[in-house]
Amino acid sequence: MLVLGIESSCDETGAAVVRDDGLVLSDVVQSQIDLHARYGGIIPELAARDHLRSFGPVVTEALAKASVTLADLDVIAVTCRPGLVGALLVGVQAVKGLAWASDKPLVGVDHLVGHILSVFLRRGEKSPEPPTFPFVSLLVSGGHTALYRVDGPHVSLMRELGATRDDAAGEAFDKVAKLLGLGYPGGPAIDRLAAQGRAGSVPFTRPMARIDSLEFSFSGLKTQVAQLVEREGVPTSGERLADICASFQDVVTDTLQRKLFRAAEEQGVNQVVIGGGVAANRGLRARVTAEAEKRGMRAVLPELASCTDNAAMIAYAGAMAFARGDRAGFDLAATSRTSLPQGTRKGRGAR
Ligand code: KG4
Ligand code: ZN
Repeated sequence: MLVLGIESSCDETGAAVVRDDGLVLSDVVQSQIDLHARYGGIIPELAARDHLRSFGPVVTEALAKASVTLADLDVIAVTCRPGLVGALLVGVQAVKGLAWASDKPLVGVDHLVGHILSVFLRRGEKSPEPPTFPFVSLLVSGGHTALYRVDGPHVSLMRELGATRDDAAGEAFDKVAKLLGLGYPGGPAIDRLAAQGRAGSVPFTRPMARIDSLEFSFSGLKTQVAQLVEREGVPTSGERLADICASFQDVVTDTLQRKLFRAAEEQGVNQVVIGGGVAANRGLRARVTAEAEKRGMRAVLPELASCTDNAAMIAYAGAMAFARGDRAGFDLAATSRTSLPQGTRKGRGAR
């Protein structure tokens, strides 16, 4: 089965052609980072307008790179939730035109399900051997941070075990980077600097450290960095900056890792998976790999191109949904909410 996937939920316009065994034939991502960087964050209106400009060229390139035409496809998959509604609408509406013109079936995909299944994508020789079901997945992106038990490749077989009470992990990276004058998006910049600094040299308190809780909280950590910057100003020394980045990243990745393995232990599964933009973080990847080894468990990490937003993961999730009978009509709507069941309420309860 051949699937064309389309992604436009945030600041990346993506189109990809993927086979239902996970083989990526093409994956084109047009990033809007330069467009939004000068504002220090994403401007929804600008994002939607840019998706409109990029959609045609990106789809044309994805089909050409895969050496296929619309006629060769079995189904078209599009991200319809969650995300910026104006941005999502561009992809959803454009895809209805494509499906109508080519007389191909259409399926709507939850962006988070795409991230969770991104570990099944195969881009080349070095692609990881995919996990088997069940496994526990840590989804860490700019908009979401949660743990899921995954019993199969469909949203109905995924259950949330815990999520963030406030900021997502990627959001914490971005906000801290902004405080430190590192620009947008901050994750990759902190990742780079952290490699040169001393973890633990700046004493940050661990957020939601109770090991029996599978919920996260990152806004307090961001406040700790804000207070530090207020006290001593934006660091001018490269060494101090690297130490802050290393210490911040250490606390975040340690928290993520502990809760991931705690969840796996509770669920009695021996495979863990990560996904989302923050899954590209070198510190997190090293930690999860080392901990799995220590425990005799299997950790499967998606390739870097599969971590940050891309359409290949949407195509693959679409293939799985289509195989299970999901179909979308021309009334397919875009919504800001995920279809995954959510158990964590923002800001609630004892820490
Ligand atoms: O999954 P993604 O591309 O978009 C969302 O669905 O949100 O994730 C983007 C997030 C941003 O917050 C970015 O700073 C973060 O992922 N990110 C990283 C790294 N690369 C991207 N965070 C930490 N280390 C990285 N290497
Ligand atoms: Zn994403």
